[in-house]
Amino acid sequence: MKKIALLTSGGDSPGMNAAIRSIVKTCLHYNIVPFGIYDGYQGMIDGRGKQLGYTDIDNIIQYGGTILGTARCKDFMTPEGRQKAYQFLNENKVDGLIVIGGDGTFTGANILSKENNIPIIGLPGTIDNDIYGTDYTIGFDTALNTVIEAVDKIRDTASSHHRIFFIEVMGRDAGFIALHSAIASGADSVLIPEEITDIPQLVEEIKSHSKGRRSTIIMVAEGDDEGHAIDILTKVKPYLPEYDLRHSVLGHIQRGGNPSALDRKIATRMGNYAVELLMENKTGLTVGVRGEDLVTCPIADAIKEHSELDLNYLKLLEVLRTK
Ligand code: F6P
Repeated sequence: MKKIALLTSGGDSPGMNAAIRSIVKTCLHYNIVPFGIYDGYQGMIDGRGKQLGYTDIDNIIQYGGTILGTARCKDFMTPEGRQKAYQFLNENKVDGLIVIGGDGTFTGANILSKENNIPIIGLPGTIDNDIYGTDYTIGFDTALNTVIEAVDKIRDTASSHHRIFFIEVMGRDAGFIALHSAIASGADSVLIPEEITDIPQLVEEIKSHSKGRRSTIIMVAEGDDEGHAIDILTKVKPYLPEYDLRHSVLGHIQRGGNPSALDRKIATRMGNYAVELLMENKTGLTVGVRGEDLVTCPIADAIKEHSELDLNYLKLLEVLRTK
């Protein structure tokens, strides 16, 4: 293993820079040349990349985003696109590739490694936490912290006005951010794609939580089956004419900001492990964390299987509603 290429792809997430730094430093430690590819698979197709050195990754552990840039690349889903991309790796004498991203990133990596003889390791980087084979994805913890900070602020104004707030968070078609932030922010209800939303039941819950209280917070996952926060508000409004209802969509602030200690730590450990796996001639794997341990999972499984949301948190939320 003389040269390892790395890229970030799909939605950026806080901690990607910490992973890049760790990969580059581990490469330098073992006299391997780290080669950064810009803007994910798009950069690989366009031939945009360069050898990375210490100065490229100095002082980046604390920043959100990704110094390599990222993209959601449609061209990579075509055989022609992948052929161009592989040609770039070949011309640059790349011996192994580390991709940091989510489901789409791993799907691309899986096809590339099947079509060409290139060892690949994937690191889970997404705020959604929806990747099979790991307890945490890089960026999830920071996004959660951003959400709970925002909910704390919204609660101040909600309490001042006696309001019911529907707060929409990201997560694509998974409810990890919504459910975990509901627990961590002391929200009253949560609506997630993993559970069918029952509007009449929600109305009853709101009536019951709000009795004698100055504010009620309902976390809404963007992928909920009854729609976005504004849709839910519109559906319950006719049943709650005397209530002051508002909604707030937290949006892309959830993707930015300085990574938390947990994200920096797992990103650094995963980056280091990815290089060591390639040095041991391992390929077609994703890296994950289970408890305190680093683990691996075949990329094919990481794509095929679904990461299960622990629905015991819903029971906990119910207990926490006790007045
Ligand atoms: O996958 C990360 C994520 O932030 C999702 O939670 C969200 O649905 C999506 O990306 C938003 O994508 P974009 O930044 O392309 O609008």
